[in-house]
Amino acid sequence: MTSILIQGAFTVNEEQIIQSDVRITNGKIEEIKKNLTLREGETCIDARGKYLLPGLIDDQVHFREPGLTHKACIRTESRAAVAGGITSFIEMPNTNPQTTTQEKLDEKFQIAKENSLANYSFMFGGTNDNLAEIQKLDPKQVAGLKLFLGSSTGNMLVDDETVLRNIFSSTKLVIAAHCEDEPTVKANLQAHIDEYGEDIPIEKHPVIRSHEACYKSSSKAIALAKETGARLHVFHLSTAEELSLFRNDIPLAEKKITSEVCVHHLWFSDKDYASKGTQIKWNPAVKTDADRTALWDALNDDRIDVLATDHAPHTLEEKSQVYTKAPSGGPLVQHALLALLTAHKEGKISLEKIVQKACHNPAILFQISKRGYLREGYFADLVLVDLNSETTVKKEDLLYQCGWSPFEGTTFGAKVLQTWVNGQTVYANDQIIENKAALQLTFDR
Ligand code: DOR
Repeated sequence: MTSILIQGAFTVNEEQIIQSDVRITNGKIEEIKKNLTLREGETCIDARGKYLLPGLIDDQVHFREPGLTHKACIRTESRAAVAGGITSFIEMPNTNPQTTTQEKLDEKFQIAKENSLANYSFMFGGTNDNLAEIQKLDPKQVAGLKLFLGSSTGNMLVDDETVLRNIFSSTKLVIAAHCEDEPTVKANLQAHIDEYGEDIPIEKHPVIRSHEACYKSSSKAIALAKETGARLHVFHLSTAEELSLFRNDIPLAEKKITSEVCVHHLWFSDKDYASKGTQIKWNPAVKTDADRTALWDALNDDRIDVLATDHAPHTLEEKSQVYTKAPSGGPLVQHALLALLTAHKEGKISLEKIVQKACHNPAILFQISKRGYLREGYFADLVLVDLNSETTVKKEDLLYQCGWSPFEGTTFGAKVLQTWVNGQTVYANDQIIENKAALQLTFDR
């Protein structure tokens, strides 16, 4: 029986910060109390002055396996995730082949079982022609259904209105939607190609992938969800306009329409295109300072429910191409929590709110069993951070297979000291520890 006593940390959990001891036995949190007595043979960790959080649950990552493993794979990216305090992830279906059949989904679970250092689940991909497969899915196995209502990496656009209506009407799964209106984006892109050719200035990305495209698509998806009673989760909000579509007057568990914001839309603004170029080309695009401020406000007042990364690595070679060829997306899991903790120190968000949005709320939203909280009897997925240390992002410290980060050279005002997955240390002293403790996420559905 492995037993660990974490002593004296400031535990951040359920809207409170309390100095407490936490005992882990057999992969679970056994006790959370002040002044616990060290048992014989128990490992003791002096965490006084440090903050102990539930491990983050990232509800949107692209780990590129199978088929796109020149960019990333589950082994490398899950290691980067735990180094960044993310202990569970939900991975997206735009791999090659796409995760649009039960067989392909099962293959992914197998790859993760063999290789992941973080707990895992997957989204199933909806397409214009796989409704029958969607209807056969086991809600106890799959995290949810991902629909690309705007095209992005991997050609998974669902643009047949009848199919969309059928999917919304017939599934009980959470529908996670990428919302950007395809005709609007296409017309904007063509107008810019007419003016600039292929080498469109990157500053035009938010003009092409415009506010209008986001609002049109999100509002359409929400209208369809209201009409059909579907459970809709709108991924990666990026505009101020869209925020009026979401409520904060009912608890998350009662919401049928929820939303997510990603770290890059909170950190960067269109002013950063000049220095970062296509490294910060994302879909949806990073937009203005005013949008960024509105996203922080909506996160803090609960119109936005979940904080995630949309970790989407591409090689530097791919990203260095001209605008029309450079793919959208970038690696984030190793630095998302550090960015959030830095934002906390700048007064943008409380620690309790970070934990609510990145730990508790994904667990509530996806009905994940016994994770996302510091609670006795729950899995011991934990991250210990130091708010009095700094982390400077250096190329040589990156764990992403693609070997670059949009944060290179940035100094964050915090440091991840140690991460536990199911009670096993997987990251400590700046090193990955190869404890294969990760489990498939299970759902209380
Ligand atoms: O920028 C993005 N990249 N947005 C997405 O929705 C997809 C992702 C990717 O897979 O590259």
